[in-house]
Amino acid sequence: MNMNIAVAGGTGAVGRHVVDVARERGHDVRILSRAKGVDVLTGGGLDRALADVQSVVDTTNLSTTSRDASVAFFERATRMLLDAEQRAGVGHHLVLSIVGVDRAPDGYYAGKVAQEALVETGAVPWTIQRATQFHDFAAQLYVRAKLGPVHLAPRMRTQPVAAREVAERLIDSVEAGPAGRVPDLAGPREESLVEMIRAYAVATGHRGWIPAISLPGALGRAQRDGSLLATPDAVLGRQTFAEWLSALGPVRR
Ligand SMILES: NC(=O)c1ccc[n+]([C@@H]2O[C@H](COP(=O)([O-])OP(=O)(O)OC[C@H]3O[C@@H](n4cnc5c(N)ncnc54)[C@H](OP(=O)(O)O)[C@@H]3O)[C@@H](O)[C@H]2O)c1
Repeated sequence: MNMNIAVAGGTGAVGRHVVDVARERGHDVRILSRAKGVDVLTGGGLDRALADVQSVVDTTNLSTTSRDASVAFFERATRMLLDAEQRAGVGHHLVLSIVGVDRAPDGYYAGKVAQEALVETGAVPWTIQRATQFHDFAAQLYVRAKLGPVHLAPRMRTQPVAAREVAERLIDSVEAGPAGRVPDLAGPREESLVEMIRAYAVATGHRGWIPAISLPGALGRAQRDGSLLATPDAVLGRQTFAEWLSALGPVRR
């Protein structure tokens, strides 16, 4: 059945796949993002965008390591969305979260925990889907984790998943209706983040050695000890990191 779906963050790394998958399946899609004239923090443009919408998929994001900034963003954005959804009579709020956000003391994760809690106790029927890191995580860290000219590779056990497959799962959930907390979504196999970053670097033409580092503190321990891996009942995606990387083709530096 054709539905009207709003994708908050529909211009982002995963949100743009959610928009593509929804359209490919024949749904009408509205994108909620500042670039499209809708701000989920101020509420500007929100009521108009949600008219006649049946489901909202929230894939908004703020890149931060600050606990205060993360909690402030995800709480405000979630309250704004849920309030507007109630006014518009939206019947389903889906949010994308991250596997293990409640198992590691991380500033950014604190915002995701707060976001999940508001959705869970909110008045709009909901689904919370947690996923592991996207394959793109290796590319993001290759760019961001640097000391001067030297790229660094943090040690982490991860089971990365294709963002496109996360999007497919989210639209499956839209079509199925509100389901509460659903099983984690992870990639087909566990990988070493260090090896992922090195492989991505080689694909960009990088020649030098990329040292592995252990992040200090409880978060670094959680990344290394498997706390952020999916639970055994997780649903597994199909595309491996190596397949994702080779599908990218030559990567420009
Ligand atoms: N990256 C991962 O490995 C991973 C894994 C699992 C789950 N997740 C979750 O997936 C979600 C999306 O992550 P991502 O990496 O795809 O995000 P991203 O690429 O950083 O995209 C963020 C999106 O949010 C929108 N946005 C930000 N502030 C906004 C505002 N005030 N009003 C309206 N829209 C706003 C941005 O659009 P504008 O800039 O145009 O506003 C953009 O579309 C996050 O909640 C994250 O926790 C990520």
